[in-house]
Amino acid sequence: MTAESGHLEWWKTGVVYQIYPRSFQDTKGNGIGDLPGITERLGYVSETLGVDAIWISPFYPSPMVDFGYDVADYTGVDPMFGTLDDFDRLLCEVHTRELRVIIDWVPNHTSDRHPWFLESKSSRNNPRRDWYVWRDPKSDGSPPNNWQSVFGGPAWEFDEHTGQFYLHSFLKEQPDLNWRNPAVEAAMFDTLRFWLDRGVDGFRIDVAHFIMKDPEFTDNPRATPSTGDADFKDLGDYDAWEHINDKGHPDVHAVFRRLRRVLDDYDGDRFAVGEIHVFDWDEWAAYYGDGDELHMPFNFSLVWAAWDAKAIRARVEALEDAIPAAAWPNYVLGNHDEQRLATRFGPENAGAAAVLLLTLRGQPTIYYGDELGLRETPIPAEQQQDPWGLRVPGLGRDGCRTPMVWTSGDGHGFTDPDVEPWLPFGDDADMRNVETELVDEGSTLMLYRRMLRLRKARPSLVAGTIEFLDDLPEDVLGFVRTHGDERTVVFINFADEARPVDLEPGAALLLSTDHRRTTIGSGSVSLAGNEAMIIDPGDPHVV
Ligand code: NOJ
Repeated sequence: MTAESGHLEWWKTGVVYQIYPRSFQDTKGNGIGDLPGITERLGYVSETLGVDAIWISPFYPSPMVDFGYDVADYTGVDPMFGTLDDFDRLLCEVHTRELRVIIDWVPNHTSDRHPWFLESKSSRNNPRRDWYVWRDPKSDGSPPNNWQSVFGGPAWEFDEHTGQFYLHSFLKEQPDLNWRNPAVEAAMFDTLRFWLDRGVDGFRIDVAHFIMKDPEFTDNPRATPSTGDADFKDLGDYDAWEHINDKGHPDVHAVFRRLRRVLDDYDGDRFAVGEIHVFDWDEWAAYYGDGDELHMPFNFSLVWAAWDAKAIRARVEALEDAIPAAAWPNYVLGNHDEQRLATRFGPENAGAAAVLLLTLRGQPTIYYGDELGLRETPIPAEQQQDPWGLRVPGLGRDGCRTPMVWTSGDGHGFTDPDVEPWLPFGDDADMRNVETELVDEGSTLMLYRRMLRLRKARPSLVAGTIEFLDDLPEDVLGFVRTHGDERTVVFINFADEARPVDLEPGAALLLSTDHRRTTIGSGSVSLAGNEAMIIDPGDPHVV
């Protein structure tokens, strides 16, 4: 838990805001968001809200079977989202506002419509055959091994034409690339350079750990109850196997060391964060390498943590213990794959969750709409679209991908009033939207605004060390961030009832999730149920 001093790169100081492009702003009147829509809303992102960087989920040409995570061309823009010129304009506007932009890069698999795959499947001796993972059936005609697709069913699809199976860790429309073939790596690194040359500031790497599998294609063993973790999302039948051979092979680290060199050849602190769902801390932390691999693997440990002071503290301490000394932590509480945090942690905790996310040591990523306190939107069966949910009932992700709510009234500022958006708005959209929340001091949006401004004004919240406070009521999490002479104390009450905490003499309130609270007494304060508070503890020498 060391303090850093001197220059901190933007990705250490900044707050990232994830935009799901289908759902942010429609400028074409077709009910689907697009790149010009994001450009139009940058004022909201940088000034109204006050984040520092955006991560845009895939906008590449795609059949959209997995809503863009099935890429048919890594160096283009799907006409649904606009053109390359639209992207360049967006990037230019982003940089004019001194924001940064991270784009999604999907290296594990392409679309089955990608020209590389069309060539690969055309014949066994096509030069691109080995760009994907092809294996013979077993003698009884069954798949080469027992690997399962994350989205349900076997991870192998038989191709009648060439008589072999190809591997797909996700949908059959998402064949896995063969990263053991150097030509694949070279071609994929070129796609990074394409965007780096245009000026993007970094990449979010989709299922980064999946790209290297056991070269012997060994079966996965059955999971035992002890290999599961009740506090992580239940993936159904997929969890029946211990996924030790179908992803995360140690050879992946050499690929990321080479990838890092691609980024480091560019000026301007280009950045890579990997989507890595690995729950063994040491294995997870290995993706930092010796500071020569990914800048960070995403830390999902709080997403499915119980909303409980002890559980959260244990996970933060585990993270702090696991990461190399120079590595920078990060926190995520929601994204396009997870139930909305206000539903997961309870709407009454949405404010405290914002305080937690924005005050822990490390880079926070906010998922669009969480700043409004959006709930998971119930999607009627006939409107469900996510292929995962359609295959494995209960695992659908549509409810967290519904359109951004800008105003009250039809279309909600997202699309034209008479246009049906690609997914429905929640029933509360007239109440929970940017326009309404901006004039309500007690709204979740106003809390995020205050938090983001406070973070900028308090170096300790960005660059400070973190120490947990002991001797607090059981349901209260408390920690101190310290940078130089500045200390900032955070208290979060996980209980629904009030809890008292002691204060140092001279302590002053900086922020409460209850905007009506403007001061605190001396000596002690009673935190209301679900309240979080940020406090300037006063002069340490006065004690
Ligand atoms: C992880 C992405 O976050 C998810 O949305 C996608 O479906 C899978 N990877 C497959 O690319």
